[in-house]
Amino acid sequence: MTPPDPTAEHHQWWRDAVVYQVYVRSFADSDGDGIGDLPGITSRLPYLRDLGVDAVWITPFYTSPQHDHGYDVADYRDVDPLFGSLADADELLGRAHELGLRVIVDLVPNHTSSEHAWFRAAVAAGPGSPERARYLFRAGRGPDGSEPPNNWLSVFGGPAWTRLPDGEWYLHLFDATQPDLDWRNPEVPAMFEEVLRFWLDRGVDGFRIDVAHGLFKEETLRDQVRPAGETAPAPGSAPAPGDSMVARTLADEPMWDQPEVHEIYRSWHRILDEAGPDKMAVAEAWTQTPESMARFVRPDELDQAFNFSWLLADWSAEAFRDVITGTLEAVAPVGAAPTWVLSNHDVVRHPTRYGGGAQGLARARAATLTMLALPGSSYVYQGEELGLAQVDVAPEHRQDPSWFRTGEPGRDGCRVPIPWSGAEPPFGFGPGPDQPWIPQPAGWSALTVEAQTRAEGSTLEFYRAALAARRTFAATAGEDVEMIGDDEAVLAFRRGPVTVVLNCGTAPAALPPGDVFAASGDLPGGVLPPDTAVWLR
Ligand code: BGC
Repeated sequence: MTPPDPTAEHHQWWRDAVVYQVYVRSFADSDGDGIGDLPGITSRLPYLRDLGVDAVWITPFYTSPQHDHGYDVADYRDVDPLFGSLADADELLGRAHELGLRVIVDLVPNHTSSEHAWFRAAVAAGPGSPERARYLFRAGRGPDGSEPPNNWLSVFGGPAWTRLPDGEWYLHLFDATQPDLDWRNPEVPAMFEEVLRFWLDRGVDGFRIDVAHGLFKEETLRDQVRPAGETAPAPGSAPAPGDSMVARTLADEPMWDQPEVHEIYRSWHRILDEAGPDKMAVAEAWTQTPESMARFVRPDELDQAFNFSWLLADWSAEAFRDVITGTLEAVAPVGAAPTWVLSNHDVVRHPTRYGGGAQGLARARAATLTMLALPGSSYVYQGEELGLAQVDVAPEHRQDPSWFRTGEPGRDGCRVPIPWSGAEPPFGFGPGPDQPWIPQPAGWSALTVEAQTRAEGSTLEFYRAALAARRTFAATAGEDVEMIGDDEAVLAFRRGPVTVVLNCGTAPAALPPGDVFAASGDLPGGVLPPDTAVWLR
């Protein structure tokens, strides 16, 4: 594979890329402390090149007290010693580029850590100070100010406000250690422009924008209108940790998706353009409609947004058909490439969502193969290529802040460190003899990279084959998808030279004419069994 050539004619590489998400704590540990790190990732880059992905997105590795595992940033321009050093980041970028892999880093602009220098200064400076004006500090309600300033709820459970001993409250849409910034204060956008330039200068190829829909809040910070007694996070917000991936209805959301945010993304677009034609940004934006999602990816804003409707769809031909059609219709008017994703570090892994066990895994592979045939880019989450299921993490090992705020299991079960080799924990995750930061199940010995390599029918070999097959057509197949029929149980569509059939029903389905060149499972007797997908040419 040829390394990216910065002087090459402008190719928007992300439009058809397969991006592999690395959750830094849980990918590979180089120093034996049981926690993944940057040198660990670097050592495994050849594995990712051989898997056949185009880019790697790495979750936050910046200085952080780790209350939300890096999504609470104390210094945006340094590496947490837990994960290595700036020199390790440079090494990772250099090695990835040598191997032809692009690198996307996470940017967390909605909030800082409560240990960021700005927040410490704000606490020290007191009410009314310019230091407090970088965040959303307010007086409380009620005669003695002991009620929060409004009724907003944290995505991680409980009120979105915490009171300081001096009586003022500050807003945190996530954990109390993640104070929300005030994006109407010009110092805030100015700081993030510097952060973007800092990482662009080091050679990153793109940014994943965390909570991209959250930066601005309605200026009055008015109460949210919601059904009496509702204590769950706002319906349009980021998914409730663990899984409450509830179907979202149009709701009153003064804390999300405010129009002012788009001016910020236009300015970031200019910064990325200045850095080179091959820099990109992808939004994590949980918006209420496909149209509002499309606003984030207008030609002068961000390049992509995660398409969570694919991940939210039920196991049903009709649901998948609707999401495909709806997604393509939403992005077409703005000219953005669609994206697809089935798992990430915030949701229950898709084999478990589809029912678990052999059937859940068969469905997961079938949904993945269907996804990989679609135009646009696909995001895959570490471990899905091994068929890992959600782990039921024992309460004493849970670390998700939402667990501490709600008592719900949270997201730790999709963040268990990757099993690479060997017969017992830590399965080659690191040099240490012990279990890593979240214990791995003993049964994972059959799921290691080593055990699955060259093993016929393994999920890893399925991913390798599917990604290799995708390379033979994806870049040139165009972005049109033609649905074939509207069968209740079977989804079928054509894209360029490829016909894709996914059987969501309970009976075997006939295969249309064509040569099979990728399948998610066996095709006994030349028919398509339930829970299976196939590509024909
Ligand atoms: C990230 C989460 C994180 C939250 C707060 C998200 O949407 O993906 O992992 O907890 O933002 O930063």
